[in-house]
Amino acid sequence: MSKLINLISIGAGEMHPESIEDYQKFGGFEALKKAMGMQPARIVEEVKTAKLLGRGGAAFPIGIKWEHLLHIEGSPKYIVCNADEGEPGTFKDRFVLRQIPLRMIEGIIIAGYVFNSPQAYIYLRGEYRDLNKILKNIIAKAKAAGFLGKNILGSGYSLEIDIVSGAGAYVCGENSALLNSTEGKVGRPRIKPPHLAEVGLFQMPTLVNNVESFAAIPEIVIMGGQKYLELGHPDSGGSKLVCLSGHCARRGTYEIPLGKSTLRDVIYDEELGGGMAGGRKLKFFHLGGQSGPIGHPDQLDTVYSYSDLRAAGLSVGSGAVVVMDDSVSILEYLQSVNEFFIHESCGKCVPCREGNRQIKKILDRLLIPGAADREDLANLRRLIDTMTAASFCGLGQTAAVAINTAWKHFKSEFEANVAKA
Ligand SMILES: Cc1cc2nc3c(=O)[nH]c(=O)nc-3n(C[C@H](O)[C@H](O)[C@H](O)COP(=O)(O)O)c2cc1C
Ligand code: SF4
Repeated sequence: MSKLINLISIGAGEMHPESIEDYQKFGGFEALKKAMGMQPARIVEEVKTAKLLGRGGAAFPIGIKWEHLLHIEGSPKYIVCNADEGEPGTFKDRFVLRQIPLRMIEGIIIAGYVFNSPQAYIYLRGEYRDLNKILKNIIAKAKAAGFLGKNILGSGYSLEIDIVSGAGAYVCGENSALLNSTEGKVGRPRIKPPHLAEVGLFQMPTLVNNVESFAAIPEIVIMGGQKYLELGHPDSGGSKLVCLSGHCARRGTYEIPLGKSTLRDVIYDEELGGGMAGGRKLKFFHLGGQSGPIGHPDQLDTVYSYSDLRAAGLSVGSGAVVVMDDSVSILEYLQSVNEFFIHESCGKCVPCREGNRQIKKILDRLLIPGAADREDLANLRRLIDTMTAASFCGLGQTAAVAINTAWKHFKSEFEANVAKA
């Protein structure tokens, strides 16, 4: 039986991404038509029943987020699609944006209708520059076809979608930094509370969801939340886009039902990762992005679902699966992860700004025989704990997750070069 599923990716590669007609051949805009005949609260109920968890990495239940926003007073409410996707190893939103952008747009319009929002924004990663023009063209076409703009499908409801371009800062994917950046301010995180649902973009109630999250909405509306739930895992319905990179044979983005495959399937199945390229042995895998945990081959039989991975000390995160063979030094790999965080730390708070730099010094020493001592290892532990507990935002709080989890599996490599005395 196939390990793949086609809920979001239906029509990918078979339709022209900018063609409304092609999209409609694959059921495009049927969900919007259906949604506009439904009460907003009913749509939210379906999303809740589907147990759709946020696909941007934090896995917050989307139905609960939507229900909360529905009950908040204040107008206008804004819809923001997080298309910042800035972590090395994560490229599944790019798959949606390039191959099936109209599915995400349809999800945004349905969300707009639910919250009677006049304005939505797509915050697009700066490096996806070419997509800016493509998305603008698609938006213009959707307007001309009556699916967007004034009086959508004769319903009396109107919505505009604008594109905001990021400028290459990973921290702007954090939802409050993203809103600051959208407002034209410095892209640094805000203190929370107040929550963005209450005080969001331009101080107004705001919904921020990920590209893949929005792209999942049309199918939930079409098939109903219960069916969507049943296709996935009892704790988290539907499918997940996983993006495989590194030393597996078949790098790419694949859509799998949640809870129906193990990590072994994800890496070795012939329709998915296809096993190790070059015939070497799997040494470790890095899940969910640079801020996610490192896993060991002993954990390959863990089921790929949010709850099963969490129970094993792993996580789905963004859906990234970076596969590394036994030619790779774990410490050198962690050095590259650490360099990413040093580069991307916005500098607002000390634990993240300084912590990442201090970690670099220790990792550098650990690679040179005799250069590090036992105190370095103790300090590394302290830095991990302090950054996790005291950083201002998710970037610093998770910057040491890879090191912390790798420590559990590869402690001997951390200790290998430490001076004996
Ligand atoms: C440093 C940092 C970077 C993030 N980058 C992204 C991103 O690129 N895309 C994304 O959807 N969410 C990202 N997030 C998570 C968002 O803050 C937010 O949880 C998400 O956009 C909510 O949408 P969802 O519930 O649909 O996942 C990031 C979080 C942090 C802390
Ligand atoms: S943890 Fe602090 S320094 Fe790091 S990105 Fe967040 S606010 Fe900026």
